[in-house]
Amino acid sequence: MSVTVRAPAKINLHLGVGPVRPDGFHPLTTVYQAIGLYDDVTVTPASEWEVTVIPAGDVDCSGVPVDASNLAVRAGRALLGHHGLDPDRRAASLVVHKGIPVAGGLAGGSADAAATLVALDRLWDLQTPDEELLGLAGGLGSDVPFALLGGTAHGSGRGEKVRPVPDSGTWWWVVLPDAEGLGTPEVYAAYDRLAPGRGLAEPHALLAALEQGDAALLAAELANDLEPAALALRPDLARGRTALQEAGVRTTLLSGSGPTWLSLCEDVDHARTVADRLHAQGRAVMLAPGPVSGVHLVEHA
Ligand code: C5P
Repeated sequence: MSVTVRAPAKINLHLGVGPVRPDGFHPLTTVYQAIGLYDDVTVTPASEWEVTVIPAGDVDCSGVPVDASNLAVRAGRALLGHHGLDPDRRAASLVVHKGIPVAGGLAGGSADAAATLVALDRLWDLQTPDEELLGLAGGLGSDVPFALLGGTAHGSGRGEKVRPVPDSGTWWWVVLPDAEGLGTPEVYAAYDRLAPGRGLAEPHALLAALEQGDAALLAAELANDLEPAALALRPDLARGRTALQEAGVRTTLLSGSGPTWLSLCEDVDHARTVADRLHAQGRAVMLAPGPVSGVHLVEHA
C-alpha cells in the first residue's frame, strides 16, 4: 500500500518583516503564491522511519537530511502523536521526488512536511480535520500551513496564519536558483543588523493588483524586506540579478530568504525567451506558473 501526494514551491510576492519577537521569530506580513515546481512524496508502511530523496531534473539534493531531523519525518511523528499513536511503534518510508531547489527560499522542506501530513493521514485513514492539519503544520514550520493551502494567500504571525486572497491572474515566473543554498536563520539575523525594512504595513496595492490581474501594478509592488540582508551575506548574488536583467526582465525579486531570484514575465513566451537566454549562458533556470494548488493526492495504490 502506498500514497503519493504532490506539494508546490512557494514564493513571497510581498515579504514585510517586523522586529524580532521574544521567541526569536520575526512577525511577518506576507503574500504567498504557490508556483508550479513540485516535490512528490510517496509513503509506505515500514518498520522504521526512512527518507529517500530522488532528484527530479537538475535539483541538487545533497544537502537534504535523510535522518530523523528531516522535517517530513518530524511531520509524520507529530501526526501520530496528535492521534495518541506511538511514532516509535508505527513508521513509514518516505520517498521524495524533489523538483523544488533545496535551501533556495522556495520552502521545499515545508512542502515535503505538508505532503507527508496528508499522505500519512490517507495511508493510515486517520481522517484528521483540515483545521487540525493546519495546526500541526504551523507547529512544524512557518511555511508549512501555506503549503497545505496553496493558491495565493496572505500570511501573518510568523507566516503560519494564512488566508486565501483573490488572484485573477496566471503569472509566469522565471526562477533562477543559486548553486549554494542560504540558511534562513542567518538571513533573519543579518536582517536584524541592518536598517528595518517595510515592516508590517498591509500591501494593499499588491493585493489590488492580484485581484484585478494587473501585471504592471503587480510588478511594481513586488517587495522583499529580506533582500538587502541576503545580499549583505552573499554580495555575489547580485550577479544572478544582473544576468536576469540582461536577459530582458523588468523586475527581479528574491524568493523568501533566498538565494533564488524570481522574475515576473509578461507571458509564457516572454518567460521562455528569458529562460533560453539564460540557458545559453549555462545557467540552470526554471519556468513556473502561479498560482497553483496546494498539496494534493496523486496516487493511492
Ligand atoms: O519556521 P521555520 O522553521 O521555517 O523557521 C526557520 C528559522 O527562520 C527560525 O528558526 C528563525 O530563525 C527564522 N524565522 C524567523 N521569523 C519567521 C520565520 C522564520 O526569524 N517569521
